[in-house]
Amino acid sequence: EKAGYKHFMAKEIAEQPIVLADAIKHYCRGGKINLPEELDFATLDRLTLVACGTASYACMTAKYWFESLAGLNCEVDIASEFRYREPPLPQNSFAIFVSQSGETADTLAALRYARDKVAKIVSVVNVATSSIARESDIALPILAGVEVGVASTKAFTCQLAVLLLLALEAGRQRGRIDDAALAEHLKALASLPGLMNQTLTREPTIAATAAAIAEAQDVLFLGRGAMFPLALEGALKLKEISYIHAEGYASGELKHGPIALIDKAVPVIVLAPRDALFDKTVSNMQEVMARHGKVVLITDAKGADEASYGTWKTLTLPELPALLAPILYALPAQLLAYHAAVAKGTDVDQPRNLAKSVTVE
Ligand code: M6R
Repeated sequence: EKAGYKHFMAKEIAEQPIVLADAIKHYCRGGKINLPEELDFATLDRLTLVACGTASYACMTAKYWFESLAGLNCEVDIASEFRYREPPLPQNSFAIFVSQSGETADTLAALRYARDKVAKIVSVVNVATSSIARESDIALPILAGVEVGVASTKAFTCQLAVLLLLALEAGRQRGRIDDAALAEHLKALASLPGLMNQTLTREPTIAATAAAIAEAQDVLFLGRGAMFPLALEGALKLKEISYIHAEGYASGELKHGPIALIDKAVPVIVLAPRDALFDKTVSNMQEVMARHGKVVLITDAKGADEASYGTWKTLTLPELPALLAPILYALPAQLLAYHAAVAKGTDVDQPRNLAKSVTVE
């Protein structure tokens, strides 16, 4: 069942180029995005995205996309807070619930809270027969295939792809993306599985870095813009399977507290493609290096050229449009966590105290 891999997680990481290509193919036909017609974003006032854990980080990433591509006001919340807060929800809005299992108790309760308050309940799910899918007006499958490892990997990248397609379609309907621009975006998205394959060939280098990280007690992940939610995701992945304490921060928050943690024993993983925010992130990274933090810079060739001096390690990924970076950069984050766990000898697929599907609150 593990198809020759040592763990389901390794298999599921490796499957990402294939399942992502399937998901993209399912939703894109003839240069158009193929979504149910009732998904009309044109005059919508607001979008509310709700989920738990890794799925909530997919939602946080999507907020950047919905705002920048579609100019759509977008709120994101974790389900366990949302459900008890009695948040007001405008009638002219959609609520989107993201869940791999489709059975997460808090996410389902949040969905039931939103029912009758919003125009449409939409879910982005992996298990198409799940409670969350059944109770939605529109259930969009992510087509990742069965995910066994407790640490979510391929479901995350497929959630991101489906949410990005939703944001692109919202942008088109709201007159912010014309046909030519949409075609460009879709072409770039279609090239992503290939870039993922290239990234996976870097696994031996990533494993060597992970083995060094496995010695640490605390690890920080930093990112700016849409790489910030990925910093949170990288930290979650590392802590849940390797039991190393890890935190994700927005790079700009460094000075507001976490920089106090930095010393020569603390690896700091900096997720920084050479995008418009790169220089800002690099200046935060230099503050870390000035305090002898061990920086692992994950960037592209241009970024490495400009900023690898003084880092502990630099991992170079293929260049790609900034919009797609959160999806591609998820892979080294997952591989770092996986190989750190393997180096520590923990139970990768069934980490202590965790369940694949959290059906009690
Ligand atoms: O099945 P769901 O997507 O609703 O699950 C949500 C979280 O429980 C899940 O993402 C959890 O955080 C994973 N173990 C993360 O790897």
